[in-house]
Order: sequence, then C-alpha cells, then structure tokens
Amino acid sequence: MKAHLENLNWRYATKHFDESKKISAEDLSDLKEAVRLTASSYGLQPYQVFIIEDPKVKEQLRAAAFNQPQLTEASQIFVFAAYTEVKEEYIKDYMQNVAVTRGIDVSNLDQFAEMIKGASMSLPKEQQANWMAKQTYIALGNLLNVAATLKIDSCPMEGFNVEKFNEILGLNNKGLTATVIAPVGYRSKEDATQHHIKVRKQHTDLFTTI
Ligand SMILES: Cc1cc2nc3c(=O)[nH]c(=O)nc-3n(C[C@H](O)[C@H](O)[C@H](O)COP(=O)(O)O)c2cc1C
Repeated sequence: MKAHLENLNWRYATKHFDESKKISAEDLSDLKEAVRLTASSYGLQPYQVFIIEDPKVKEQLRAAAFNQPQLTEASQIFVFAAYTEVKEEYIKDYMQNVAVTRGIDVSNLDQFAEMIKGASMSLPKEQQANWMAKQTYIALGNLLNVAATLKIDSCPMEGFNVEKFNEILGLNNKGLTATVIAPVGYRSKEDATQHHIKVRKQHTDLFTTI
C-alpha cells in the first residue's frame, strides 16, 4: 500500500515530456488493459479510446489544444471519446458480449437489456451524453494510476477544443465526442513542475465521516 501512495505522490501533471523516450510495447499494452478493465455503469463501456502516435496527427492536435507541448512531446496521447447518445445497438452488442463471454443464451439477458434501455434512453439527450462522458473519467483515473505504478508520466487534460479534436479524429460520424485526454511518456529533466510540492486539501477539509 505504501508503494501505491508513493506512486501517487511521484506522479504529477507533466508539462514537458522527453521526446526521445518512448513507452515500450509491453507497458503500452498494460496501460490499455488498465483502461479496458475499468468499471463502467452496467458494464456498458459507452466510449472508445484513441491512442495517437502519428507525429502529424499529434501536431494537428497540439494546434487544437492551445499549443500545449505535451501533445507533441509525449510518447502517446490517449483520447477518451464518449458516445453522444445511447443507441439500442450499443446495448445489443453488450448483451451479445456478455452472452458469448459467459456462455449463456442472449435471451436470458432481455430483462437486463430492458432495464438499461429504460434507465438510459429515457433521459434527455444532454443527460445521456453527460452520463457517458462521466464514464470516461473513471478510465482516465485508472490510466493515471497504472501509469504511475509503471513509472510512466502522464497529464490529464481538458484544455483542448472539442470540436476540432472531433474533426481531426473523425469522431462525429462515429457518434463520439472527445471528453478528456492523457498524453503519456517520460518527464523531461527540464520540466520544473516535477519539483513543485503537491497541493491538496487537508483531510479535515475533504473527508466527513458520518
Ligand atoms: C480533468 C482534468 C483536466 C486537466 N486539464 C489540464 C490541461 O489542459 N493542461 C494541463 O497542463 N493540466 C491539466 N490538468 C492537470 C491539473 O492541473 C493537475 O492535475 C492538478 O493541478 C493537480 O496537480 P498534480 O496532478 O500534478 O498533482 C487537468 C487535470 C484534470 C484532472
């Protein structure tokens, strides 16, 4: 446990990455698995994750992210993209996955499917989008934590133009919208932010035990 908390103290929102250092295929695979294993409401995973390595695409994204250097310096950029409305096909695909994975007949899941549909598709479109966007932040948290365990640096980021990201990555016609991103890689020695003392609320200001 101590090691886990040490890792959380070690990580920081990295402002400058060392461009010469790339994440190994094995570590990248672990990061992806951490995202894949993330909990989501009903297990629906109503989002997709894009991993950007192409230097030209990184340049375009940097221009659409207020020129923040992490976008081109990082080894990869994880772009979390949530669906904008709940569609019946997402639920159908999920039921199919459950049935195949657990070796059961999909008809046994009809009640479960109706429950998800009833709870989600009845919401106004904006609330549907908001509900699905929230799920991506859980995956983001897992990514940051597992990255820290692997001593991989990262920076959670919302400072980007969503419309431009959607356009560059062709997300709109997939029914998706970018919600949050995380460049990952290795901190630059020159990044002064790594020396900043972590600022957090005191326990008494954050926790109430009832
Ligand atoms: C949702 C979210 C969005 C953020 N957006 C940006 C961003 O666009 N650019 C940036 O440099 N840092 C961004 N940050 C980093 C925060 O400023 C940073 O996590 C916070 O100050 C705490 O510092 P620490 O993560 O280094 O401990 C973001 C963090 C979160 C969680």
